[in-house]
Amino acid sequence: MKKIWTVLLTVLLVSLALVSCSKKEAASSSTTAASSTSTASTQKTMVLRYAENQPQDYPTTQAAYKFAEMVEEKTNGRIKIEVYYGAQLGDEKAVIEQLQFGAIDFTRVSLSPLAEFEKSLNVLQLPYLYTDATQMWKVLEGPIGDQFLASVDDNGLIGLSWFDAGARNFYNSKRPITKLSDLAGLKIRVQESQLMMGMVQALGANATPMSYGEVYSGLQTGVIDGAENNWPSYESTSHYEVAPYFVLDEHTRVPEMQMVSKITWNKLSAEDQAIIKECALESAKIERELWAQKELASEEKVKADGAVITELEPGEKEKFQAAMAPLYAEFGKGYEDIISQIQATK
Ligand code: GCU
Repeated sequence: MKKIWTVLLTVLLVSLALVSCSKKEAASSSTTAASSTSTASTQKTMVLRYAENQPQDYPTTQAAYKFAEMVEEKTNGRIKIEVYYGAQLGDEKAVIEQLQFGAIDFTRVSLSPLAEFEKSLNVLQLPYLYTDATQMWKVLEGPIGDQFLASVDDNGLIGLSWFDAGARNFYNSKRPITKLSDLAGLKIRVQESQLMMGMVQALGANATPMSYGEVYSGLQTGVIDGAENNWPSYESTSHYEVAPYFVLDEHTRVPEMQMVSKITWNKLSAEDQAIIKECALESAKIERELWAQKELASEEKVKADGAVITELEPGEKEKFQAAMAPLYAEFGKGYEDIISQIQATK
């Protein structure tokens, strides 16, 4: 009797596996159908994946959900986008590589790791490049922004829109920072980026590149003394609990890019490409609104929870700028005109 049940159970499991395989095949063959058919209504559902390394309630993730919702609605359900948040599909570097292979369809990443693939993007995140967010947005929404959005094209990626990520500031577990010399010798985590390493070294601290998800334990165990980021990241990662000294130095603004894999893009009809582009721009507007709210809320929360916020003493920002000036020559080489245009944008 027991044997019969075992046989029946095995048959059942095998049939379930077969059904699920044939479903997967249907989904993947639908992507081929999309490129060869021009009448949208005859297309099957295409299920695409979107990678995000921030938590579910973060502005960028919320904007990704909106993007998915709008695309599904405007394509009458032909394109369904599943959002994987919290780095479930890997850290930013791994996700970019997977977009290049077409294993992941969409993402939103910080320009720092992306610039390791497309060097020219370092230009847009040079320290103290913009005077404020308004100037940065004028640049990103104008011809310079369009040019850099298109720059990832040769890397198997299609840039869709820009997201906001505010200004980045240093924080650490050791001491309040009010002047450049206070940073001396601190071990500071940086994004996996040559520019960010150069920046921290130029300031007299020791740069430790590390992926975002490892920073909390790095701070907690003392592998690193500090890191740098914007208010929402400082708060949502709980880094402020283990590194409560935060200095409002605003050393850089690092824009973020929403992208699609070129392999995926080429499978889409022109009509669907247009819908995706439109929804990406729309979701970017949503992200900026959510970002502005979250920046304030995060600042309030970390202050209420005891983070020690300092400002630079008069004359110290100029010292930061002077120390980091050589990075313009190194990472802005060949883009001197564009850098001047950005600085002259009013
Ligand atoms: C910000 C950014 C992330 C990035 C992180 C980092 O939080 O939004 O995309 O991974 O900085 O410092 O690595």
